[in-house]
Amino acid sequence: MDYLKELEGKSVHDCYHHHQQQQIKMSKMASPIFVPGPVIVGAGPSGLAAAACLKQKGIIPSLILERAQCLASMWQFKTYDRLRLHLPKQFCQLPLMPFPKNLPSYPTKQQFLAYLKAYADHFDIKPVFSQTVVSAEFDHVCQLWRVKTRGVIKKEDTAEYVCQWLIVATGECAEEVVPQIEGMGEFEGQIVHTSKYKSGSMFCGKNVLVVGCGNSGMEVCLDLCNHNARPSLVVRDTVHILPQQMLGKSTFGLSMFLLKWFPIRFVDQFLLLMSHLMLGDTAQFGLRRPKLGPLELKNLYGKTPVLDVGTLTQIKNGKIKVCRGIKRLARNAVEFVDGKVENFDAMVLATGYKSNVPSWLKGSDMFSEKDGFPRKPFPNGWKGENGLYAVGFTKRGLLGASIDAKRIAEDIEHSWKAEAKHVLEFPRPLA
Ligand SMILES: Cc1cc2nc3c(=O)[nH]c(=O)nc-3n(C[C@H](O)[C@H](O)[C@H](O)COP(=O)(O)OP(=O)(O)OC[C@H]3O[C@@H](n4cnc5c(N)ncnc54)[C@H](O)[C@@H]3O)c2cc1C
Ligand SMILES: NC(=O)c1ccc[n+]([C@@H]2O[C@H](COP(=O)([O-])OP(=O)(O)OC[C@H]3O[C@@H](n4cnc5c(N)ncnc54)[C@H](OP(=O)(O)O)[C@@H]3O)[C@@H](O)[C@H]2O)c1
Repeated sequence: MDYLKELEGKSVHDCYHHHQQQQIKMSKMASPIFVPGPVIVGAGPSGLAAAACLKQKGIIPSLILERAQCLASMWQFKTYDRLRLHLPKQFCQLPLMPFPKNLPSYPTKQQFLAYLKAYADHFDIKPVFSQTVVSAEFDHVCQLWRVKTRGVIKKEDTAEYVCQWLIVATGECAEEVVPQIEGMGEFEGQIVHTSKYKSGSMFCGKNVLVVGCGNSGMEVCLDLCNHNARPSLVVRDTVHILPQQMLGKSTFGLSMFLLKWFPIRFVDQFLLLMSHLMLGDTAQFGLRRPKLGPLELKNLYGKTPVLDVGTLTQIKNGKIKVCRGIKRLARNAVEFVDGKVENFDAMVLATGYKSNVPSWLKGSDMFSEKDGFPRKPFPNGWKGENGLYAVGFTKRGLLGASIDAKRIAEDIEHSWKAEAKHVLEFPRPLA
């Protein structure tokens, strides 16, 4: 089997290093392409971080397969214009390359994208673009992963890659969550998900219902206000809203610091006290807080607190109305669960995202079928069985992705070295 692996490996190895497009041509021949290094699915920040860490370890370069035509497609295409990183840059930088010093604490989306491009250039990472991974399964006979792709531009461009290590980096936000609301087909106004929302300029003068009060929903409401639209926000459940900064420090940074010294419940009490002093009682404005504190809720259920960037002020001064959950939609009106009916011109679904791993990763127990996240909670979700890894599924944003990437590279380096030692100690006869 090793012999076969080597033979296959040799023929495609050259092509792999010389010209990636050649691989796609080869794929039409339907022979599997052996990749001597790890295959990474997804060229977002997580995939890039994993590739860079592996490269630094001196392991044979990994191959990144990406469905889009560019790096970090989520950031390029699915985010709104006014977006900035919501945590200070030191918590968002990828391993081995800090952000440039001249960037502001909260870089804009364009600055973050420029950083990612520079990062890929620095580590000479060249993903294979426009290839969607449609299935990946461990072959127990040859003890390798078989990863099948389909061309995005030409569907008939299919390929099969064979590898020892498979790194899942398709993201927590791979697909939009679009709820089915009664009467949705009847509503005559525009309905867009936040992944397609760019700016409030197209909603100027309109009554817009924003569904969902995560960070996206809250910020889109503010953007709509700034563009002279009239937003209303659907809040169907409890939510923690925290100021982005406290005592001159980022709330996130301060929390991380306090957690080193104090138990989580104490830190939560501190955050809630500070929030009350700075923002007032949010329940007064229809934003009731959950019973659990923000950090405990995040740890137990992965629910991210909202970091307020100015939306609350607009809620307080009545420019953004808060509504209860939706019961049903009609032609140009929305009925809420409390019986109120109001007219709207458009709706923005800020209803979040989901992982797509269960749709393509087969025969593995590492990821839950239900939510597409690793079954083992942080910090143990990064490693599965048979050389399978996950990067960027910690519900801890870019910081979590960096932690995963470093661990994965160390682990693969370990098995890479063990294998090399085995080959040296037990060389195969030449004939
Ligand atoms: C609006 C918004 C703002 C955010 N802001 C922050 C922030 O400020 N700080 C923070 O830490 N986090 C933030 N996040 C969380 C975000 O998930 C991470 O910042 C980051 O994008 C995660 O990187 P990733 O590589 O894991 O996932 P992604 O960036 O989603 O990249 C995954 C890549 O995999 C590709 N892919 C998916 N499926 C396949 C497939 N089957 N085959 C091939 N390729 C595939 C996708 O095209 C994509 O390019 C934000 C998220 C959103 C939606
Ligand atoms: N850099 C930044 O400033 C920034 C900006 C935006 C987003 N982000 C990050 O991006 C990720 C995704 O954020 P997100 O806000 O898009 O999604 P999210 O955090 O998953 O929030 C989705 C919201 O939609 C609500 N919702 C879902 N279905 C609904 C329905 N049918 N009716 C009413 N409400 C519904 C949810 O309510 P329930 O809780 O009741 O389910 C939740 O409040 C998060 O990690 C977030 O922190 C960062």
